[in-house]
Amino acid sequence: MPNVTFSSPMHKDKTVYAVAGSHKQTVLSLAKENHIPIDFGCQNGECGTCLVKTHPVGKDKHHKMGNPLTDGEVNVLREMGKLTKEQVDRMRVDDLCPTEWRLACQMVVRDEDLLVEYPSK
Ligand code: FES
Repeated sequence: MPNVTFSSPMHKDKTVYAVAGSHKQTVLSLAKENHIPIDFGCQNGECGTCLVKTHPVGKDKHHKMGNPLTDGEVNVLREMGKLTKEQVDRMRVDDLCPTEWRLACQMVVRDEDLLVEYPSK
């Protein structure tokens, strides 16, 4: 089971276990289940309220994490200035997530340890 550590300057770090291989559990749903106060709004990848910064644990920084960015997530991250056109173009070529910024309601937890920083604005 992957460990997901939630870290915020305003709260104590908390590490929780995600269900391995569920392919559905998002970072936001995991946070809510464990009473971790990540702000959220639409829960549909449209408002950007649940912006978090994610890092692989024990891997190099280019390690692929979570599911690829959805088109909606790309649009929101672009509007928020967290993703450049060059990063999007590179993602289309190499199929790697090009940014550490993610929307917690869209990022599905995979079988890998993860550090999630919030709030990240
Ligand atoms: S809650 Fe709106 S984008 Fe995640």
